Amino acid sequence: MAGKAASYRCSDCGHAALTWTGQCSGCGAWNTLEEVSAPATRSGRRAGSRPAPSVRPVPLREVKAERSQRLATGIAELDRVLGGGLVPGSLVLLGGAPGIGKSTLAGMALANLAAEDHDVLYVSGEESAAQVKRRAERLGEGALSVPILAEPSLDSVLGAIESERPAACVIDSVQTLAVPDAAPGSVGAVREATSALLEAAKRLDVTLILIGHVTKEGSLAGPRALEHLVDCVLHFEGERERTFRTVRALKNRFGATSEVGVFEMRQGGLVEVVDPSARFVGEARPAAGSVVLCSMEGTRPLLVEVQALVAPTEIVPPRRTATGVDRNRLALVLAVLTRHAGLSLSTADVFVNVAGGVRVDEPGADLAIALAVASAHSGRALESDGKPLACFGEIGLTGEIRYVAHADRRVAEARKFGLDRVLGPPPAEEVIEGLAPVASLKSALSGGWRRISPSTRASARVDEIRRQDPPARAA
Ligand code: TYD
Ligand code: MG
Repeated sequence: MAGKAASYRCSDCGHAALTWTGQCSGCGAWNTLEEVSAPATRSGRRAGSRPAPSVRPVPLREVKAERSQRLATGIAELDRVLGGGLVPGSLVLLGGAPGIGKSTLAGMALANLAAEDHDVLYVSGEESAAQVKRRAERLGEGALSVPILAEPSLDSVLGAIESERPAACVIDSVQTLAVPDAAPGSVGAVREATSALLEAAKRLDVTLILIGHVTKEGSLAGPRALEHLVDCVLHFEGERERTFRTVRALKNRFGATSEVGVFEMRQGGLVEVVDPSARFVGEARPAAGSVVLCSMEGTRPLLVEVQALVAPTEIVPPRRTATGVDRNRLALVLAVLTRHAGLSLSTADVFVNVAGGVRVDEPGADLAIALAVASAHSGRALESDGKPLACFGEIGLTGEIRYVAHADRRVAEARKFGLDRVLGPPPAEEVIEGLAPVASLKSALSGGWRRISPSTRASARVDEIRRQDPPARAA
């Protein structure tokens, strides 16, 4: 294909085509293909006409890779999600729904960096300088020292970055930047602006935080067009009506993607929630349809309350509503409950909700969903010594409870809150104090675990389970 450049591009999805068609074959939109001039190759000649000057691969061992000092934003929850602060010269995309607190978080980070004598710059293409000032006043005196450029033109922004050379710069938002010859907010414009900013950031060693709005469907506008360009994609989520907000990394070239930062929106800005488990299950009481899930958010154990409601309905098909857990996971758990535990749910609406507005995205949530639904269905509260029952574990299609990582840390977190009996998959080797192992959904529902005190006879129970369940399957 050398030498033949795509000459049409869809203004909606960015799909490239060689010929003009009325409908874009990428996204199905009509009349969106626009002609683009064939890009000149970097050296100014046609690709493929002459072999490139010889280049030699280098063994990785000989590659120079200096570890640069990270810029700490001073917001511990954010720094942890970033993998220990901002990497100089990196590009971070901060996405989230309007009103969630993106500008607030970015403003607070810049204020902290400015207080540490770093040069910073806040570019606002969306709000006027006065509006940004009003927000900063709520955040405190420090936020007022951040220099602002209320300017939507990409060229002016690039000029300012060039002349100011800040250590960190926020672009609020990347969709509002005006790019010559492209419709504002279109994929083409967003992509072009990001590429230009990326080039400047790498060259001048400026850390850029791009704020991006998320569309109704939940994707960052510009169908993921930016995600491969940037080093780190952070997603700010939560419900606007609730005070809890979480920041998680969807992509991170410099750290893990499983970390989650928890915040609460208050009068003076976002406040870090240092012990989220306490906030989410501090008030949990035994009730029909409620269980405590010991989940892992990255390297941190987190207790959340999973609630279910099962109500008779005449609607066909009945409703299945999941808030805070994956819909497909709920469907799977309901199918296993029907098939392997004999629960009849075909004439009932099922609602599952994680209290507090948090999202848990891990297979370890299966058992909690199943137990909450079963408890709601029977109308009986699941409790252990007057406390809500805690659990974790993945459910397999044959109804077995499968191993998930960090069992010991999950159980330890529950015990910290006085939940002394935790239902979970049989551990591979070691005995975990406080864990009441269950090998199948059926045995979890039968309540046989009640008869065994987890702290004293866990080992005996593990032996018994191993006998019933050969290790090859249990592992
Ligand atoms: P904002 O950061 O502007 O959201 P985004 O940039 O994601 O659109 O702020 C979101 C909301 O937070 C806004 O409705 C007002 C509220 N808020 C507070 O409750 N306390 C505060 O201190 C600040 C600055 C904002
Ligand atoms: Mg904003």
